[in-house]
Amino acid sequence: MSRIITLSEFILDRQHEFPHATGELSRILGAIELASKVVSREVNKAGLAEDILGAMGSENVQGEQQQKLDVVANELFMNAMKGQGEVAGVASEEDEHYVVFETDRAKQGNYIVTMDPLDGSSNIDVNVSIGTIFSIYRRVSTGALKPEDFLQPGTAQVAAGYVVYGSSTMLVYTTGHGVNGFTLDPSIGTFCLSHPDMRTPEQGKIFSVNEGNYNDFSEGVRTYIDACKERRYSARYIGSLVADFHRNLLKGGIYIYPGTTKAPQGKLRLLYEGNPLAFIAEQAGGMATDGSQRILEIQPEQLHQRCPLFIGSKAMVEEAAKA
Ligand code: AHG
Ligand code: MN
Ligand code: MN
Repeated sequence: MSRIITLSEFILDRQHEFPHATGELSRILGAIELASKVVSREVNKAGLAEDILGAMGSENVQGEQQQKLDVVANELFMNAMKGQGEVAGVASEEDEHYVVFETDRAKQGNYIVTMDPLDGSSNIDVNVSIGTIFSIYRRVSTGALKPEDFLQPGTAQVAAGYVVYGSSTMLVYTTGHGVNGFTLDPSIGTFCLSHPDMRTPEQGKIFSVNEGNYNDFSEGVRTYIDACKERRYSARYIGSLVADFHRNLLKGGIYIYPGTTKAPQGKLRLLYEGNPLAFIAEQAGGMATDGSQRILEIQPEQLHQRCPLFIGSKAMVEEAAKA
């Protein structure tokens, strides 16, 4: 049997790859690993907690509402980041403003994190794969944490990753030196390297798009979707970006969430959906664009800014963007 490499070991082994190899980034990744294991546990008992335990407990716990899983995930990841000391602040999909952990600069960390703590919320109650997405940046300001620390282009990401809570729980991340995937072995509570040096096929046969919006798409996007059908490509759309992206990364395919007539910037958020996944896609040999520009080069202006997203196998993304 070949030797098992755990995520913790792997992070330490690769620490030298970081430009500032002080162990700070390793500790942040370690905290994310821990929080994702707790979220994985919560996800796996979501049905129980709401329908069985929640109903029974409702008489004892006075008026206490069962918290929604995206709020629970947000708190778990926030607390993990806060406990670190390395993270100065976090911008989360769940919070309108970024959260600052420590006001004294001397005690502030050198990194900031952006995250979508629970991606695919509409799939929570129906037992379908969901995920977590995160990006890590070095802060650029001195003194108090400023918006510009969070509004950095995706090219400045130090690390990015996602966790998919699917038929198994997987954590996939990059620090700009390739992409590696780890599967949680629940019997020992450890992420083990299962997908070393992930590469996505140059060309795939899967297209993932919410075709219910077809009539609101641009001529070019409609033409591309028609071409996919003409070639008998497979339509696969889970409605959890992480899960759709992960499948396409492994098998080859394209995920599209374009702008529509009603929402020209689409639905997905640049800072904690577009950028981290674009970083991973590129590191795996794929591509990500908003239709005219590389996602990673967009200069963000707002924390919750949206962007159209064409992401996945390079040849497919190139063709879709040209259409
Ligand atoms: P979130 O649950 O974090 O709000 O993200 C949902 C996103 C993404 O995961 C998914 O691909 C997309 O919304 C689905 O949107 P439609 O239902 O419009 O297809
Ligand atoms: Mn999301
Ligand atoms: Mn979310």
